Amino acid sequence: MSRKTGTLLCLIAGSMMLIIGCSKSSEDRLTTPIPPSDCDTVNMTYSSDVQPILEANCYSCHGNGNVNGGVTLDSYTGVKLVADNGLLIGVITHAPGYPPMPDGGGKLSDCDINKIKDWINRGASNN
Ligand code: HEC
Repeated sequence: MSRKTGTLLCLIAGSMMLIIGCSKSSEDRLTTPIPPSDCDTVNMTYSSDVQPILEANCYSCHGNGNVNGGVTLDSYTGVKLVADNGLLIGVITHAPGYPPMPDGGGKLSDCDINKIKDWINRGASNN
C-alpha cells in the first residue's frame, strides 16, 4: 500500500467516525424529553380550565347527584370548599393521608394538576 493510499484510508476512516459520532449525538438529542409546551398554567380560571378537568375526571362520582365521601364537585360552591380546606390538592396529588383521586383511576396529568394548583394559588375564584 502506498503512503498516499494509507493517508487517504485514514482520512476516510476518520470522516466515517465523525459522521457516526454526529448521527449518534443527534439521536441523543431526539430522545431527550422535550418539556410540554402546550401546558399553559398561568391565570387559570374556574370556568374554562378547572371545571372541565373535574367534569371529565370526577363528576362520575362527585357530580350529577353522586356525592361520594360527602363531596360534590359539580358546583363552584362544592369545589371551593375542598379547594380551601386543602382536600382537593391532597387527593389529586396523591399526598399521604388523603384518599388518592380519581378513586381507582390513574392520577391526573401533571399539566392538569398544575392548572388546578394555579387556580387555587390565585384564590380559587369563581372566574
Ligand atoms: C370512581 C369514583 C370516584 C372518582 C372518579 C373520584 N372520586 Fe373522589 N371519592 C370517591 C370516594 C368513594 C370517596 C370517599 C373515599 C374515602 O373517603 O376514603 C371520595 C372522596 C373524595 C374526597 C374527600 C376526601 C376526604 O378525605 O374527605 C375528595 C376531595 C375527592 N374525592 C375528590 C375527587 C376529585 C378531585 C376527583 C377527580 C379528579 C375524584 N374525587 C374522583 C370516589 C371517586
